[in-house]
Amino acid sequence: MLLPDIKILDEKDKLLRKVSANIEFPLSEETKKNIQDMITYLKMSQMDEYIEKYNLRAGMGLAYIQIGIPKRIFVIVEELEDKTFKDYILINPKIISHSEEMIYVGEGEGCLSVNREVEGIVPRYARITVESQDLDGNTFRIRVREDISIAFQHELDHLNGILFVDKIDSKNPYKNANKYREI
Ligand code: NI
Repeated sequence: MLLPDIKILDEKDKLLRKVSANIEFPLSEETKKNIQDMITYLKMSQMDEYIEKYNLRAGMGLAYIQIGIPKRIFVIVEELEDKTFKDYILINPKIISHSEEMIYVGEGEGCLSVNREVEGIVPRYARITVESQDLDGNTFRIRVREDISIAFQHELDHLNGILFVDKIDSKNPYKNANKYREI
């Protein structure tokens, strides 16, 4: 596999603070290629061989704004137990329902745009249902839970110009941790 030529913006870049706009169909060939590039990049970032070869940081999600394009698209690549990958492509997504229960990643969230250690937790819904469009513009609903639910909410925040670090109180980074379930 060849590493796609994409540049991921750093948190200091003000573009990451922009609210992304809905995207119209049909998608351009360039948009389709960029989506594939983001997926390939995330896959390679989860494979030891390429982590070593290209000195990659592992990531499971990217929002389009992170490669500089403020449109409402994100992708998630989940590594399954049999070492294959499952891709999620969400276009113009919105949360239509969510659980009462909140969870957080005990070891903290990470982001390919945040290149430093960040202490603290971000409470997220344990389960969400999202309505989205696919590559052809068809509307579909998807229900996700646990780590994938967190990944979706992290990426949805990117589409609204929000980074996970914004949600951590640096003076009290584990605030209310006992109210939520750790995963
Ligand atoms: Ni991120």
